[in-house]
Amino acid sequence: MADWTKKTILRNDALLQYIFQTSAYPKEHEQLKELREASAMKYKDLSVMIVPVDEAQFLSMLLKIMNAKKTMEIGVFTGYSLLTTALALPDDGKVMAIDPNKEAYETGLPFIKKAGMQHKIEFIPSDAFLVLNDLIKNGEEGSFDFIFVDAYKSDYLKFHELTLKLVKIGGIIAYDNTLWYGSVAQLEKEVVDDRIKMLRNFIIEFNSFIAADPRVESSLLSIGDGLTLCRRLY
Ligand SMILES: C[S@@+](CC[C@H](N)C(=O)[O-])C[C@H]1O[C@@H](n2cnc3c(N)ncnc32)[C@H](O)[C@@H]1O
Repeated sequence: MADWTKKTILRNDALLQYIFQTSAYPKEHEQLKELREASAMKYKDLSVMIVPVDEAQFLSMLLKIMNAKKTMEIGVFTGYSLLTTALALPDDGKVMAIDPNKEAYETGLPFIKKAGMQHKIEFIPSDAFLVLNDLIKNGEEGSFDFIFVDAYKSDYLKFHELTLKLVKIGGIIAYDNTLWYGSVAQLEKEVVDDRIKMLRNFIIEFNSFIAADPRVESSLLSIGDGLTLCRRLY
């Protein structure tokens, strides 16, 4: 049964703890750890929104393999995945980070500064739709190497049409939570948590759309509670 406080879809707790304890936590950057702890302290259960440590390490590896330099994050919250991205980029790399919630970003900012990563980050306190449309108008189409989308799930399909314009051909758009606490494979009546039920159908619709979208090659990874990578083909 999907549980709101347990986002990861790996349903074997012992195995999940094994991955975290033996592989992920030992290599977690000190300031990422501090940022995660400060987020949990301030935002309690809401800090479940942060990408799990193993997913962050996968994203970091992906960015490095791709040699990504110009990147974007839609949905920042306190900046865990943002700091992960900044740490993975070369010194002249950039991440445009968009979220109307400035207060949450400022909770993580001291750790971003302590890690010496602020110069790679342009934080824009805004609804991402406004920013993406402006970027398209200003001739930024096809210029981003990597875009991470982790905002409201009901907006993923609308974001896809804009991010697909902004990412370069061969570049990657990554969508988080695409297995939505594992609920996508449950019958509607089996999903008892209203917070999970509310957005489940949007994710199911998004996953079907991506599977049929000829403009991207895609891969739905069972890490965290699902991460869909889309590689722009044309
Ligand atoms: C799941 S949290 C992001 C977590 C973060 N990526 C991490 O892993 O550390 C979702 C965030 O998306 C933001 N958000 C929701 N709709 C948005 C939009 N239209 N534009 C930009 N940010 C949005 C919310 O304010 C919230 O802080």
